Amino acid sequence: KLQPVLLSGGSGTRLWPLSREAYPKQFLPLVGQDTMLQATWRRVAGLADAAPIVVAGEEHRFLVAEQLRQAGAPAPAIVLEPVGRNTAPAIAAAALQATADGDDPLLLVLPSDHVVADADAFRAAVRVASAAAERGALVTFGIVPTAPETGFGYIQADAGGGDGVTKVVRFVEKPDAATAQAYLATGGYYWNSGMFLFRASRYLAELERLRPDILAATRAAFAAARRDGDFIRLDKEAFAACPSQSIDYAVMEATDAAMVLPVDIGWNDVGSWSALWDVAARDADGNAHHGDVIAVDSRNSYAYARRLVALVGVDDVVVVETDDAVLVARKDKVQKVKDVVALLKQEQ
Ligand code: GDD
Ligand code: MG
Repeated sequence: KLQPVLLSGGSGTRLWPLSREAYPKQFLPLVGQDTMLQATWRRVAGLADAAPIVVAGEEHRFLVAEQLRQAGAPAPAIVLEPVGRNTAPAIAAAALQATADGDDPLLLVLPSDHVVADADAFRAAVRVASAAAERGALVTFGIVPTAPETGFGYIQADAGGGDGVTKVVRFVEKPDAATAQAYLATGGYYWNSGMFLFRASRYLAELERLRPDILAATRAAFAAARRDGDFIRLDKEAFAACPSQSIDYAVMEATDAAMVLPVDIGWNDVGSWSALWDVAARDADGNAHHGDVIAVDSRNSYAYARRLVALVGVDDVVVVETDDAVLVARKDKVQKVKDVVALLKQEQ
């Protein structure tokens, strides 16, 4: 049985001013008509043997429920976190929910804010990975790296592997720049896409072995959860006491059961405005627009507009116009948008 788990806990500040704490990027239609959460569900709806389990922040419960309803998802189980404790506990809570009635499905864990351009290739990959996951592997989906990015996990695949799913020799979460550079030079390394496939009980067992403190706290929060309709509200006090850690550090770096399936699926985690330009359809001048935008004598620019925006004689810029803020940035400096968010926080 394949059980999709949608992680919806990020705050997406790198896409300011559109993405806000109250309205992070998974709830926005950044690419196409669907929001990223809706697109994530639709991508796997045909594979799923069950309604999705969504793990999200308490404050986003109505957005999650309403957007999935609009996307035609069968009534999801929505696990609500009173505070964010990162992905290791979030996935543990999903695994506890999935196994609550004695079931033990394969969990297909998906960030709800990534782009996958080739959904068919992705679904085919999930089918291939399922056999290994059935046998107890914690399967990751590896992306061929194109730059020494430091925001990703790096996976060294077993060279002898060959056919699809291979053993992970090493998993290194967010290495420094020099290390990432060395991995690219060596070859045989993949980026961790942040999507995982494993049996629910297998994940819980590895977490128990590696981080019993995280599992115990999540179990306590789940046992004392309040159920109200589709919402499963984790107990606040118990969950607040849980250490905050990602699955990557807590489990994937340390486990011996990791395997990787290299995939070519048009994956992008849309971590910045320039990434949106990367994945968008562009005109002959290399401009990509969302909304009402006119470009004259401008190249390789990205504009997201609610009102009419005109670009004249500017290249490689990002312009984002919303009801209460305007961003104008050089495309190669958009990582610094997070500095704006930090400054705004200071002023508050
Ligand atoms: N429910 C819930 N609760 N979801 C969360 C939480 C949380 O506390 N924290 C993060 N998430 C969700 C985010 O919304 C996102 O969809 C996903 O989990 C991954 O979290 P990120 O915060 O975006 O992680 P990252 O980008 O730093 O790193 C991860 O993703 C990379 C690929 O994009 C790691 O898995 C890396 O190894 C990987 O390369
Ligand atoms: Mg991310």
